[in-house]
Order: sequence, then structure tokens, then C-alpha cells
Amino acid sequence: MSFDPHKISRPEIFDFHGVSMTHFFTDNWENIQNFQARPDDILIATYPKAGTTWVSYILDLLYFGQTERQTSIPIFERVPFLEIIVPSFGSGKDQADNLLTSPRLIKTHFPFQFVPKSFWEQNCRIVYVARNAKDNMVSYFHFDRMNKIQPEPGEWSSYIQRFMEGKMVFGSWYDHVNGWWKKKQTYSKLHYMFYEDLIEDTGREIDKLCSFLGLSRSVEEKKRVTSGVQFDNMKKDDMANFSTNFVMDFKISPFMRKGKVGDWKNHFTVAQNEQFDEDYKKKMKNSTLQFRTEI
Ligand code: A3P
Repeated sequence: MSFDPHKISRPEIFDFHGVSMTHFFTDNWENIQNFQARPDDILIATYPKAGTTWVSYILDLLYFGQTERQTSIPIFERVPFLEIIVPSFGSGKDQADNLLTSPRLIKTHFPFQFVPKSFWEQNCRIVYVARNAKDNMVSYFHFDRMNKIQPEPGEWSSYIQRFMEGKMVFGSWYDHVNGWWKKKQTYSKLHYMFYEDLIEDTGREIDKLCSFLGLSRSVEEKKRVTSGVQFDNMKKDDMANFSTNFVMDFKISPFMRKGKVGDWKNHFTVAQNEQFDEDYKKKMKNSTLQFRTEI
């Protein structure tokens, strides 16, 4: 079937089992819940815009190296997005089912309670990436501007309010990062990492990933991966930068936008920042999670 991207209309947000969602990520719910994970599947879980693509790319290179696959298949096909379903384009669940790689790398933005039960039953390894709320929100704002399957972001000032209320696609950032953080206490095969740490020292974080995944890679190989996944390299790589993705309008904003810690300072006014910090303290007061908004 041919596909006309102009026919796509921006979705409404609605409450789905207590989480704000859009139909692109709930229409395939039954099938997703019945997804059959394999013990060696690796799930990459994030709140949107926390560094999903970066970590997907790192894992893909660590497992499969620089082969023709890397130069011919976009990252969003190499690492399927489990819950997405777009008419005439197909579903991430089917893509995951059809993956021929071993292990299969699978991406999700679900809060932990939405993850299909077979991942837990099969005791799969899960890599969770979290990013500080302010930069995460800024990145999400620009993404919502350019991505035609996301709701319109509206004005920045109202976007901040909506973020604080948790009315974003995939719900509240606060619930997401805290929910997964708590899950880590009872599920040992969960590696919780931070975007800011990856920026600070990519090589160190790759070492930690290798030890979590039980991978032994030579120093040279790890160096190759570390330099291959630097922002400028990924930005110019059409298989990593989403330029082949038809729902995104790069004239509005590129997918590989800035790749920095602290860009929020270019967006928040002093008053917005104070209000946000005050609200943040309340929402995070019972959490042991610590984020860095600058490094
Ligand atoms: P910015 O919009 O702040 O630039 P996700 O993959 O979860 O959608 O996250 C996208 C964010 O990660 C974007 O943030 C993007 O630029 C950033 N990113 C992707 N690859 C990166 C890299 N190699 N180094 C630093 N940031 C990267």
C-alpha cells in the first residue's frame, strides 16, 4: 500500500490507564501486551528525548559492529519501537517479531507498568536512560514542533505547565523516571543510566554497559564505538539522524538538534525557572534520584 504522509493528522492526548497517550501508541495495545520476548532480547526504555537513539546506536555497534547493516538500514528499523503503529506503515511489534538479529534490540517509551509481561518473565536485560527534566522538556518541545505524529506543542510557556502536569505523550516525566528507578530495586537486570553521564564520559558509560551486558570488547573496539557515536558523527549519518523518517519535518527542527546539557538556559525565563524548581522539589521530595542540569 502506498503511503501519503500528508494524510497524517496530529493526534489528541487522552488518558490511558492513568497515563497521557495518543492512539499511535495504544492502537496496538493487545498485540503488544502479548508480545513474546526472548531471554536474550534487550529492551531500551526511556522517556521520549532522553537519549534513546544514542544508546540504541551504541548497543547496535557494540553487538553488530560496522557492517553493511549500519550503512543501509536506519536505526529506527534496526531497533524497532515496540508500541508504535502508524497506518499503512506497520507496527513496531511486527518489526520486532521479524528482526533476524540476535540479540534483538527493542525500544520502548512505556512507563514500566505498561511493559509486556514476557520481558519480566524472560528476565530480559533492560537499559533505562534518563535525562534531567529541563533539557528533556526542551528537547521534547522541539520534537513536538517537527514531528507530525505528535500533538502540537503550542507556546513554550504553556508547554512548561503541561509538562509539570504530566500531560505529555507517555505521561509524566516525574512518574516515568521514578517508576523505573523503583523498579530497579526489585529487578536486577535493569541498568539505569543518565544522559548527562554519557555526555561527560561516553567511554566510561560504554564500559559500564559492556559489564552489564556481559560483553568483552577490546579497547580498540570500544574506542571505535565511542568515537562513532559522538554527536557530530551521528548527526551526519543518515542512518542515525532520522532524515529518512517521513513523519518529521527537518525544516522546522532537526532530530539531532543540539546534543547538550544545559540548553534549557536558552529557553527558561528566570521566573519560569523559579516556578519549575519549586514544583520540582515537591514532586521529587520522596525520590532518591539525582539529576544534573549542568556539567
Ligand atoms: P536535543 O534535542 O537536546 O539535541 P531521543 O533519541 O530519546 O529522541 O533523544 C534525542 C535527543 O538526544 C536530542 O537532544 C538529540 O540531539 C540527542 N542525541 C542524540 N544522539 C546524541 C549524541 N550522539 N550525543 C549527544 N546527544 C545526542
